Amino acid sequence: MSILIKNGRIVTAVDDYVADIFIDGEQITHIGKNLKVHADRVFDATGKLVIPGGIDPHTHLDMPFGGTTSADDFNTGTVAAAHGGTTTIIDFAIQSKGQSTLDGLEVWHQKAEGKATIDYGFHMIVTDMAVDRLGEMDKLAEAGVTSYKLFMAYPGVLYVDDGTLYRTFRRAGDNNTRICMHAENGIVIDEIIREAAEAGHKEPIWHARTRPTRMEAEGVHRAIAIAEVAKVPLYIVHLSSHDALEQVRIGRNRGVDVQAETCPQYLLLDETWYERPNFEGAKWVMTPALREKWNQDSLWQGLKFGDLSAVATDHCPFCFNGQKELGRESFTKIPNGAPGVENRVSVLYSAGVRTGRISINRWVELTSTSAAKTFGMFPKKGTVAVGSDADLVIFDPNETRVISITDPRTHHMNVDYSAWEGHEVTGWSQTVISRGRVIVHNSKLETHGGGKFVKRARVGELLR
Ligand code: URP
Ligand code: ZN
Ligand code: ZN
Repeated sequence: MSILIKNGRIVTAVDDYVADIFIDGEQITHIGKNLKVHADRVFDATGKLVIPGGIDPHTHLDMPFGGTTSADDFNTGTVAAAHGGTTTIIDFAIQSKGQSTLDGLEVWHQKAEGKATIDYGFHMIVTDMAVDRLGEMDKLAEAGVTSYKLFMAYPGVLYVDDGTLYRTFRRAGDNNTRICMHAENGIVIDEIIREAAEAGHKEPIWHARTRPTRMEAEGVHRAIAIAEVAKVPLYIVHLSSHDALEQVRIGRNRGVDVQAETCPQYLLLDETWYERPNFEGAKWVMTPALREKWNQDSLWQGLKFGDLSAVATDHCPFCFNGQKELGRESFTKIPNGAPGVENRVSVLYSAGVRTGRISINRWVELTSTSAAKTFGMFPKKGTVAVGSDADLVIFDPNETRVISITDPRTHHMNVDYSAWEGHEVTGWSQTVISRGRVIVHNSKLETHGGGKFVKRARVGELLR
């Protein structure tokens, strides 16, 4: 199968020019002006952007959590991602306590294989790491799982102590792999939650009131300090607040190799969402919590000036009916997480590029290139170049849509609400190509399945 994309405005993290792109099989083989080639399929991209497919480095598909399981599996979640212009995700495989991480990884391979429509990699969530298990980390790296996530939050569930952090960080550093950190002091937060529950507080707003930004900042500070001593590159996931970002800046100014991602919800939504009546606020119960609005300016600045290096979704959907409702009697029982994998690329274009908060190149970097580089997929993915995978989006910068569960063109996630209900965006993924396969065109799914596992490279290595 060959594809010719004619006359598009090709935008990468560094380029911006008009040319044709020829795809032969799975890869881009030619880029040039007025290419004279025969192709099985031709797209006229005049007036449109042609960008590298989005890479979302933070999703939770088919994940058991909060007494239930996230509502999108690798089938529905990757189809929804594709509709939103994302052609690669990195999901989180989980090691249950006492289980081998290699067995945990196998469980996630089974969940994804044969179901995914776009390509996927895995981070490994480590929930315990005894000294005699450390050798597993060498094998994970060889298997292309070159990053780990550890939690300072969720005591009794995913939380690990500082000794486990240090031990895991050391081996990850020795292996030239990367640590992703959920940085929040869950032990103190659990005490604050206990006080609130004892005082009789039940409503979703108490999710935010019991998770102070200072406890996120403390987690970030501690993670950076441990990573510095253990000599491992660190990546703070879902950073949500000014206080936490300040700690990232301090660490980076000291020369520590620390990066951080934020998510669209922290850039645009705030804690007042929790006060919506009839328990509706539960839809946005996620961790970290939505913050006071003033934090958002600081996060946008972080994106613009580089202290925040990526925008992920932390897509972890739970239906309102039957799942979020588990917490009607207490905010502590609301499953933590929200949907978003379908919305990231358009929401960030609309709220970031069109408003002048970030440049168009920075948008591509934040939604694709940076994750490819950070997580060992560049230049196979994350750019538009000869030899790279033909993961491309023809993006209409002028198309306006209102995101709604009632508009089947704007909602494909397997969840009964949209976190962006009623949100107007300008900028829409019109045609989405994954390894040379047209998977979405004009909001219609053309290809189902065919997504492959990406065996990622180690830190500092290229993937071809
Ligand atoms: O609320 C969230 N973020 N749920 C998913 C698990 C995590 O902490 O990333
Ligand atoms: Zn987390
Ligand atoms: Zn997450």
